[in-house]
Amino acid sequence: MSVPSRRFRPTTAADVDRDGHRFEWLKPDGWREGFRALALEIDDPGTGAPCVIGVGRIGPNTAHPGRDLVELEIDVAYRRRGDGTALLRELGRYSNNPLSSKVVPGSERDGFLRSLGAVTYLEVPLLRVDVQADRTARWCEAVRSAQDGIVRTAPWTDLPRAQLVDALTDRYAWQHASWSPTASREVLRPVVGEEFYDESELEHSWAVVRDGEITALADLYGTGRTEEPTDAEEQTGVDRAPVGSRREGALEAVDAAAPDARADVALCLAALLEDLRSLGTASMDFDNHPTDPHAAPLLATLRRTEVDPVHLVEIPNGLTAVLRDVP
Ligand SMILES: CC(C)(COP(=O)(O)OP(=O)(O)OC[C@H]1O[C@@H](n2cnc3c(N)ncnc32)[C@H](O)[C@@H]1OP(=O)(O)O)[C@@H](O)C(=O)NCCC(=O)NCCS
Repeated sequence: MSVPSRRFRPTTAADVDRDGHRFEWLKPDGWREGFRALALEIDDPGTGAPCVIGVGRIGPNTAHPGRDLVELEIDVAYRRRGDGTALLRELGRYSNNPLSSKVVPGSERDGFLRSLGAVTYLEVPLLRVDVQADRTARWCEAVRSAQDGIVRTAPWTDLPRAQLVDALTDRYAWQHASWSPTASREVLRPVVGEEFYDESELEHSWAVVRDGEITALADLYGTGRTEEPTDAEEQTGVDRAPVGSRREGALEAVDAAAPDARADVALCLAALLEDLRSLGTASMDFDNHPTDPHAAPLLATLRRTEVDPVHLVEIPNGLTAVLRDVP
């Protein structure tokens, strides 16, 4: 089908008033520093009046400077005519970085982004653990009986905020280093350390402390969800909205190479699971990565099911798009 006069321009407050109800996300360009928001407009074939048929945005990922964030939406009535491809290519002109997104395998987002050459850089299923199972209780007892005398577990409410934020920042940096390198610690601390701290349920998140140092963390997320995904959420894909008796969180060591890291992560996990068991929680979803050196093998020793797999994908842009398009 031929496309009448496609035009791209920054979105405006007038677009939001007129067309906000037609798109999941529509805000005026400039709503967020460093981001660009564009409208794709055509002349309505019936009336000849300008008509917005797509919106999109692009901008840096503060925590992960190597890939930029992109999101777009085409009006349902105008799909499969190449407009999504055209809008993504136009958005891509505002960045030299490759772009990243999160897709459910088989979804329209998956099909669309794969058609542009997107490749998976990490496959991340949620690991759902049955908290009330007798075996889970026996697993926690086995961890406790292997515990040495020096170490202790503490809910985050018992520890200083700054110490927890530092530990969260350190953990995040090495955890992502091999597959999504992070910004410097100073940049990461507010957008990851403080955000994770602020969104966790402090009284039911756990730390292991050894010689005064936090060595492992298990975070349980609260329900205080903001409208916009946080920087950390945009990268990790965690939706912090636990429902009913199902809860969501993550765990790992603060220094993965420490000699007691495996034992301390196990102890942290046991403290979290025992606490959730006493609260009557049915199941816990761990948003860990298969690359986590302690959490992944430990979670594999619990009875768990893999649910809601998503792929973190890179969409070619900048040099990578040029190379993709070499004839
Ligand atoms: C995904 C979306 C942006 C695609 O827009 P579009 O204008 O229909 O995309 P295009 O016409 O440029 O599609 C290009 C190719 O992507 C693939 N594709 C697009 N939609 C697809 C779908 N629903 N299922 C499978 N593949 C799809 C096809 O290979 C298509 O080429 P083809 O039509 O020749 O087969 C649109 O469906 C949408 O807005 N969805 C809701 C929001 C969303 O998922 N956004 C993704 C942001 S990254």
